Amino acid sequence: MKAVVAPAVIGEKENPVLITGGAGFIGSNLANRLARSGKKVLVIDSLARPGVEENAAELKRLHPRNISVLITDVRNEAAAEAVTQASAVVHFAAQVAVTTSIERPLEDFDINVRGTLNLLEAARSCCKPPTFLFASTNKVYGDLAEVELEQTRLAYRPADEHLRAHGIGESRPLSFHTPYGCSKGAADQYVLDYARTLGVPAAVFRMSCIYGPRQLGTEDQGWVAHFLIKALQGAPITIYGDGRQVRDVMFVEDTTEVYARAIERPSFVAGRAFNVGGGPENAVSLIQVLNHIGRIVGRPLEISHSHWRAGDQRYYVSDTRSLRSKIELSPPTPWKTGVSLLAQWLKEARPPPRRDDAMIAGDAR
Ligand SMILES: NC(=O)c1ccc[n+]([C@@H]2O[C@H](COP(=O)([O-])OP(=O)(O)OC[C@H]3O[C@@H](n4cnc5c(N)ncnc54)[C@H](O)[C@@H]3O)[C@@H](O)[C@H]2O)c1
Repeated sequence: MKAVVAPAVIGEKENPVLITGGAGFIGSNLANRLARSGKKVLVIDSLARPGVEENAAELKRLHPRNISVLITDVRNEAAAEAVTQASAVVHFAAQVAVTTSIERPLEDFDINVRGTLNLLEAARSCCKPPTFLFASTNKVYGDLAEVELEQTRLAYRPADEHLRAHGIGESRPLSFHTPYGCSKGAADQYVLDYARTLGVPAAVFRMSCIYGPRQLGTEDQGWVAHFLIKALQGAPITIYGDGRQVRDVMFVEDTTEVYARAIERPSFVAGRAFNVGGGPENAVSLIQVLNHIGRIVGRPLEISHSHWRAGDQRYYVSDTRSLRSKIELSPPTPWKTGVSLLAQWLKEARPPPRRDDAMIAGDAR
């Protein structure tokens, strides 16, 4: 694909922060946050995800002087070149859906592993390699079938009290499930090794379920936004599994705070992997989120169930104590507040068209 550059931050004295996948959900929120605080940002995105061009246009509109957008693929030379011009790289661009990875594992591998290596190689070619922050996933810990669970009417919870109080820590053995888990896991390990062996000040953030404004959730990824969109449309919702699966949902502003702080203090995080999520206080099941969404839209939701999806964890909650010991962070946004804020954004900024007869589905990706 041909690279298209909007040159606001190219040629500036200050080297920009490069955000790959910067038109996507988390990337555009981080770009907005950094530009608001006066930083120069270069966004790279292939616009592979439908709808993200609106996020890119909004960023340019909000920050014409601080944000440039380069439409290219992270596997391209132009992306590698941009790394060599950056003060820091935050690598979000990815093939993000487990379902797509099962359909097209070679493409998933190529984007997630080769794309990441392309950027890492560019980083290590620099005299002073930029800070390199990688968005990994809780999927690197596999389906966690070994965690003994109890079942309540609404949710699963670990039988072990320590796990229930703190969540899953970074010492949990890696166990890549699904091609997406394998490709993100491989990239996660390459990033750590470029810090260990090749001198790039790189860190890995294994993220749980992030939600918030600018999220274009679909049945394949971004379930909180997906459920809300369908509920606002008055369309039926299919849950894969029994709906008791639990995630520590994290509001995107809390996530961007993690990256913004890590950019400021690279030596605190370099060479390490951190679990990032809303933590035990934001551990909720799909059923609990759907109940809250039902209250927000003010009518009962039409819900049906289908089979569990490959690799879906019954319970995943991040132990964020290691992260918080390295960088100071605000208390996480309570999940009910965050979901209401996302609902408000969807209604005001991207009102979904009503689609009464749509057949849709969702799971805990
Ligand atoms: N959202 C979550 O809950 C979550 C959880 C764990 C990990 N992650 C990881 O965080 C990152 C960002 O996730 P998101 O939810 O913002 O996803 P997103 O799909 O909204 O953003 C990804 C962006 O990358 C772009 N992209 C895809 N392939 C590309 C390529 N080859 N070259 C350049 N750009 C490309 C897409 O167009 C999109 O704008 C991903 O790496 C994802 O694996 C997200």
